[in-house]
Amino acid sequence: MANSTLGMTHMCETISTFFYCLQTVTCLELLSRSSLPPLPSPTSAMSTTTTVTESSAPTAEFETLRIRAQGQPQPQQESQSSNEEPYKYAHLLPHFSKDKYPPLEPYEHVDPGLRALSHPNPRSFLDNATSVFEITPYLGTEVSGVNLADLDSDGRDQLALEVARRGLMVFRDQQDFIDRGPEFYLQWGRHFGRLHVHPTSGHPEGYPEFHLVYRDHKTTFNFEIDESISSTIWHSDVSYELQPPGLTTFFLLSAPPSGGDTLFTSQVSALRKLSPQFVAFLKTLKAVHSGFEQADFSRSGKRGATVRREPVEHIHPVVRKHPVTGEEALYVNRQFTRRIVGLKKEESEATLKLLYDHIDKSADNQARVRWTPNTIVLWDNRITAHSATVDFKERGQRRHGLRITPQAERPIPALDGWDLSA
Ligand SMILES: [Fe+2]
Repeated sequence: MANSTLGMTHMCETISTFFYCLQTVTCLELLSRSSLPPLPSPTSAMSTTTTVTESSAPTAEFETLRIRAQGQPQPQQESQSSNEEPYKYAHLLPHFSKDKYPPLEPYEHVDPGLRALSHPNPRSFLDNATSVFEITPYLGTEVSGVNLADLDSDGRDQLALEVARRGLMVFRDQQDFIDRGPEFYLQWGRHFGRLHVHPTSGHPEGYPEFHLVYRDHKTTFNFEIDESISSTIWHSDVSYELQPPGLTTFFLLSAPPSGGDTLFTSQVSALRKLSPQFVAFLKTLKAVHSGFEQADFSRSGKRGATVRREPVEHIHPVVRKHPVTGEEALYVNRQFTRRIVGLKKEESEATLKLLYDHIDKSADNQARVRWTPNTIVLWDNRITAHSATVDFKERGQRRHGLRITPQAERPIPALDGWDLSA
C-alpha cells in the first residue's frame, strides 16, 4: 500500500506523473526551507547510513502521500515527555542504508494458488472462522476468527487462491502474526514468491525485504501536493518491475484512531464494464511502466535520498490474465504507467486518461478498508489497484505500516500468443 505509498509516488496525480513529480519536488523544496526539519542532501545521504527516528525521520513511503494546501496549519505537535513509553516497534522504523543492489534477475514463479486448485475444499482454511463476509460483491472478503500465523503450507496455498478470487482479504485480530516479528514475516512471505526488495524506500534495519510506510508528527512529508485536490492515487505496486508483485501482505504497526484508510478497486470489474469492442482493442496494447521518476525523487534528496538499485522500465500488456483464475484485468496505473507502445502521443494520453478516469470514479468497483488494531490485509496486485487516504495529517499521529511483497510471474497478456517485446 501502501506504499503504499507510497513507496514513493502514491501521488502522481494531476495531468501526468512527470509533472506531478516535479510539483512534488518543488513543494518539498519549499518545505525544506520552512520550519520543518531539513531533509538530507543527496551527498550526505549517500555517504552515511540513516535510520529514521522519531526525531529525524524523513517520511518513508508511497502510502504516505500528503497534501498541503497553502495556508494549512503545521502538523499538530504531540506532547513529548520523559515519561513517554518507548515505541514498541522502534526496531521496525524506516532505515535508509547506502547499500547498492544489482539488477533483479528473472526467476520462475510458481503460484501457490495453483496447488490449491486441486484441493477438495480450497476454502477449508476458513472453517474455524467466526465471521466471513463479502465487503462488496466484486471485491474483498473480511474474516474474523482465523489466525493467519497458524496456517500451514496447505492453508497458505488456499489463502493465495482465495485472494486471487476475491482480489482482497481483510483479517481482523492478527496480533499473534504481528508479534512474531520479522523472521516470521520473511518465512511467511517466501511461501508466496521471491520477496521484492524495494530500490528506494525505507526498511527495517537488517530487513531490506520489507517495505515501510511511515509518518509521525516530526517527519517531513513524502509527498506535498499543493496543486492536487485529492490524495487518491490508484496504483499497483512497483509495476515497473519485469515481474511485479502478486499476493501482497500489509499491516499497520501503529495507526491513527481514525483515518488513513486504504482504498482498493477491482481491475477485473473495471475491465468488465468496458464494451467488448474496446476491450478487444485494449488487449492488443502494451504499455511502458517506469521506475525512473521514483528514483529521481530519491536522488533529489527526498525520502531518505537513497537509490539502492538502478531504476528500470518494462513493457506489460494493458490487459493481463491471472495465472490461476484465468481472469482478465486492466493493468495500467497513473503512478508508473507512462505510455502505450505504438500509439501516437495524443492517442496514448487519451486512452490512458479514459482508463484512469474510469478507475478513479467507479466506486462500484471499489472497497475501503478501515485499519482497526491488528488488521492484516492481503491483496493481489495483478488484478487490483489501491490508494492511500491522507485525511489525518493535521492531527500529527503516527502511521507505521509494513508490506511483504512477493514477486509473481511476468504479466501474462490476455491475448494468446501476443508478443511482449517492444
Ligand atoms: Fe501501494
